[in-house]
Amino acid sequence: MIETRALRKSYGSSLVLDEVSLTLPRGGITSIIGANGAGKSTLLSVISRLLTADSGAVSIDSQDIFRAAGPELARKLAVLRQDNHLNARLTVKELVSFGRYPHSKGRLTPACREAVNHAMTWLDLTALSDRFLDQLSGGQRQRAFVAMTLAQETDYILLDEPLNNLDMKNARAMMLTLRQAVQALQKTVVMVLHDINFASVHSDRIIAMKAGRVIHSGTPAQIITPAILRDVYDMEITVQEIDGHRFAFYYG
Ligand SMILES: Nc1ncnc2c1ncn2[C@@H]1O[C@H](COP(=O)(O)OP(=O)(O)OP(=O)(O)O)[C@@H](O)[C@H]1O
Ligand SMILES: [Mg+2]
Repeated sequence: MIETRALRKSYGSSLVLDEVSLTLPRGGITSIIGANGAGKSTLLSVISRLLTADSGAVSIDSQDIFRAAGPELARKLAVLRQDNHLNARLTVKELVSFGRYPHSKGRLTPACREAVNHAMTWLDLTALSDRFLDQLSGGQRQRAFVAMTLAQETDYILLDEPLNNLDMKNARAMMLTLRQAVQALQKTVVMVLHDINFASVHSDRIIAMKAGRVIHSGTPAQIITPAILRDVYDMEITVQEIDGHRFAFYYG
C-alpha cells in the first residue's frame, strides 16, 4: 500500500501539491486524471522520490520512503517519467537492461537477462531489440521505456502518461499488458492518463486532481459521470454506458 499524508509542494508562491493525502491499496490499476498543470506528475515524482515535498510523508508498505535507501526503494518501486531525455546512444536492449540496475549494479545475471527478455516480449519489442533509440518512432520509444520499468520487477509501477505517442492498437495492448502484470504478477500499477475512456475501461480506481488537490476518487462508475467530469475539467462532457463501461464524449 502507498500512503501519502498531507503532501505540500510549492514552486515560489505557487502551491502545486496542496495537502495531498491518499491511500493506494496493494494490487490493481489506479489511474490519476486531471487537467494540465493539476499536479499529477509532481505527485508521482514525490511518491517516487524524484522530487522532495516541502512537507508531508509518503510510505510504501508502511516504510517511510524519505528514509529508505535508494537501491531498496528501486527494488520496490519503478517509475516512468513523463519526459524521458536520454542523450546516450543506446539500443532498446541496453535501455531495458538499465531496469535491472537496482538488482545487478550493471552486471547482468541470468535472471536479469530473463527479466529483460520478458519485458521486451511483453511490449512487443523483440524484433527491435538491437535498434538504437534514435532509430525508433515515438511510440516504439515509449514502449521501450515502459519495458525498462517492467524489467525492474518491482511490486509497484508508477507510469506518467504511458500511452503517450501510442496508436490505438498499441495503447490498448499496453493497457492489457498492465492488466496482465497486475493479475499474473500481483503488481500495483498507478498511472497518469489523459484518455479518460481508457481510464474508465481499464482502471480499478480513478483519482481526480485539480489545482494541486485530490478532488475525487472512486471506481470508474463513480468518477466517470458528467457532474464529476465537469468539476474536474470545467467543461460539459456527455457520458454513455456501453457494454457495462462508461464512456465520455467531448469531441463535438
Ligand atoms: N520546476 C518547476 N518550476 C516551477 N513550476 C513548476 C515546475 N514543475 C512544475 N511546475 C508547475 O507545477 C504545476 C503542476 O505541474 P505538473 O507537472 O505536476 O502538472 P501535471 O498535472 O502533470 O500536468 P500535465 O497534464 O500537463 O502533465 C504546474 O502549474 C506547473 O507549471
Ligand atoms: Mg504531467
